[in-house]
Amino acid sequence: MEEKNIIRMLSKTDKILLSALENGEMFSNEVELKCGLERAAVINSARKLLSLGLVNIESITETVFRLTPLGQKYLKEGLPEYRVFDFARINKTFEYKQLFSSVPMDKDELNAAIGVLKRLLAINVDGGKITANLDKSSQIEERNKILISIENGKNIDFNSVQDFIKRGIIEQINEIKEKFSITKEGIKILKNPEFSKEFIDKLSTNNIKNWQGLSFREYSENPEILGSLSGKTNIKTKFISLIKDAMVSMGFSEMHSNFVESTFWNFDVMMFRQDHPDREIQDTVYLNGLEGNVPDGLLKNVKKVYENGFFSSKYDESIGYRRKFDTSKSTSLIMRGHTTATTFRYIYEFISKNKNKPAKFFSVDKGFRNETMDNTHLLELYQIEGVVYGDNLTVSDLIGYIKQFYKKIGIEKIRLKPTYNPYTEPSLEIQAFSPKLKRWIEVGNSGVFRPETLRPFGINKNIIAWGFGMERMLNLKLGMADIRDLYGAYTDIDLLRELESVKVFGEF
Ligand code: PHE
Repeated sequence: MEEKNIIRMLSKTDKILLSALENGEMFSNEVELKCGLERAAVINSARKLLSLGLVNIESITETVFRLTPLGQKYLKEGLPEYRVFDFARINKTFEYKQLFSSVPMDKDELNAAIGVLKRLLAINVDGGKITANLDKSSQIEERNKILISIENGKNIDFNSVQDFIKRGIIEQINEIKEKFSITKEGIKILKNPEFSKEFIDKLSTNNIKNWQGLSFREYSENPEILGSLSGKTNIKTKFISLIKDAMVSMGFSEMHSNFVESTFWNFDVMMFRQDHPDREIQDTVYLNGLEGNVPDGLLKNVKKVYENGFFSSKYDESIGYRRKFDTSKSTSLIMRGHTTATTFRYIYEFISKNKNKPAKFFSVDKGFRNETMDNTHLLELYQIEGVVYGDNLTVSDLIGYIKQFYKKIGIEKIRLKPTYNPYTEPSLEIQAFSPKLKRWIEVGNSGVFRPETLRPFGINKNIIAWGFGMERMLNLKLGMADIRDLYGAYTDIDLLRELESVKVFGEF
């Protein structure tokens, strides 16, 4: 490859690293410190420069010492021998027995301390009496300081800590360090006048529009270079995009939305009673003191139906809750608890304004709940929301969509159970059998929207809708028992790295 093409592929970090190596080899941690870079950035960049032949990487195993938890304890309170010596210093001559009450510590620790002090000739034991040898003060002091040196990562001679290793105060650890050096080719690149030229690293709407005359950094398609550069797509991201493909292939359009929602769109519009327990702070995350806007006309209609119901014929009527609806409670802002809030925004924006047009919308987006995390619950979950508007829709259509979707995803063992939602009637819970947990788990919820939720929009036809849990679905697909295997501190990174989602799911 020509030098100038290589240069065009270097990012800012690559250039910083290469320049840092001009004066000689460096360890990865030195580069981190000197260049103010994160370890991941340094390693990624070094690997890329390696595949371009500009640097060499040598892995060196170094033995380092670390304080064990016992060592940490002694770091705080002083080594037992230090504490005993200190006592001896102050009390000149004292009885062995006195020690137990004056320097509180474990008997074994105390005996070890006395053994050490005797060996170092720092104390004399004569009969039951102990005398300190004050000449040894600084030696004992130094001994105590070794712990501080180790804590601070200083180099320590093995002989001076052998005794500490035996006593379980410090441990030896083999650390792998990467040593980088620049190659001849690397030096040539550094010297090339093109090296200092700035290339645009990030694409923006603006620079894409005005691309003529701009110099962009190049990306290699060579898998060896790319492989070291790019991670794999996370399995959740991959799964979400497969789900979106599935929904689009079933004729649905995607809904876009925000995480922050008003209580109106999350609850009121769906006829959640204003004293419904889901609204409590134990379940919903409130954004303190913030208020949102709510469309006035719609708010009035919702209030009317909530309080008194509606009457259009004796087959289509409701008596409402016959309670006061307090509009001041509608504007509080929360982290939305479910993406059905978005469904209702779309009912307002699109369906109620095009009542003759059938519509199918979906989203795969986050809901937030003030939950305790366990093997089937998360505080943030992705919901696969679907909504269908058209003529003569019934619960059979709903069941059809549910079955079709789960089949497409490859989860065949499902069952439906009647359930209750304030906003749907009938409502169906979707359960799937988890072979790992050996029980049926809830994977989704669905229903036909109640007339009370649609009349405020002037909609008289039926709307069917659902919300499926993405993480539980993925857990089932991967044969996992715990939802936390996919998130946060419990994630098995090696496993996630290995999972090749396309192989796991096939194309659908
Ligand atoms: N919002 C429901 C949930 O979070 C799912 C649902 C959506 C139910 C639409 C019925 C209709 O569980």
